Amino acid sequence: MSPRFPASAGRFPRTRMRRNRRAEWSRRLAAENRLDASDLIWPVFVVEGGDTRQPVPSMPGVDRLSIDLLVDAVGEAAGLGIPAVAVFPYVAPELKTPDGREAVNPDNLICRAVRAVKAAHPGVGVICDVALDPFNSDGHDGLVRDGRVLNDETLEVLCRQAVVQAGAGCDVIAPSDMMDGRVGAIRDALDAAGFADTQIMSYAAKYASAFYGPFRDAVGSSGALKGDKKTYQMDPANADEALREAALDIDEGADMVMVKPGLPYLDIVRAVKEAFGMPTFAFNVSGEYAMLRAAADHGWLDYDRALIETLLSFKRAGADGVLTYAALDAARLLEAG
Ligand code: PBG
Repeated sequence: MSPRFPASAGRFPRTRMRRNRRAEWSRRLAAENRLDASDLIWPVFVVEGGDTRQPVPSMPGVDRLSIDLLVDAVGEAAGLGIPAVAVFPYVAPELKTPDGREAVNPDNLICRAVRAVKAAHPGVGVICDVALDPFNSDGHDGLVRDGRVLNDETLEVLCRQAVVQAGAGCDVIAPSDMMDGRVGAIRDALDAAGFADTQIMSYAAKYASAFYGPFRDAVGSSGALKGDKKTYQMDPANADEALREAALDIDEGADMVMVKPGLPYLDIVRAVKEAFGMPTFAFNVSGEYAMLRAAADHGWLDYDRALIETLLSFKRAGADGVLTYAALDAARLLEAG
């Protein structure tokens, strides 16, 4: 590749990089990227009950909320200019089965939550995961037989889960399961059920990551999970494979693609955005949030500054938006200027 900047392009002392940085107004003018509340998607956890708020110990500042409190919280997010929320259920252990059948119950917690949120805040986008892990007694994203996570049999359940969620009013179906062929199967199922306008945001490049630990506490799947997810989630060593995954999902009908986790995979965010030019999102996952909060709570990092710098890094890498548990904090900081 020929260099974009030949060595002779600018030389000291005529060129002084610090000139453009000398005043705040000038730094603002020269800024290449900007973070805005419109870039944020807020993942939230919902639990049964009324007026119930359960702190998640491994995610300080994050609570599981009963539907009534969730509706209020989504109103707060909307007031701050956040366009969309991603709702995740904490499913009672007694409802978890090997076939994950609660996932396809049209009156399950997630569907009731979606209906309530959309009724109160029709202008806020609602995103729902499609995967069996919150509902499956094995804690896996797919059906398990003889210790193996089944692909094609799982697709059938995922399609029903997607249709049930779309029926509850979910705007965006987000398959996070990493089964092969799921985006195409879900697209067909949605279309056949009359949900041609329901969007799909695929977790296109989702890695088998240690950074999901606190999330699994939050949805109560960490106790259930047997083994790991390496037979379906990607190897952190791989980058070219992420492009193949994204290409397949786009070909199968994904409207938007996501890379997950976020910070350790900024190179993948950049590569996916450059290769496909699709609406591309990064998931700043639970473990990333926990790291920042833990350091800040010890007084080792300035939470506000580190948060904005982190979120801006996703924009710089080419992301159109970020899923972050700190969306409300960030939006408040951006509002305050
Ligand atoms: C479920 C799912 C996970 C996350 C989003 N959807 C966990 C997993 O795959 O084990 C992780 C989110 C986070 O860590 O913040 N399929």
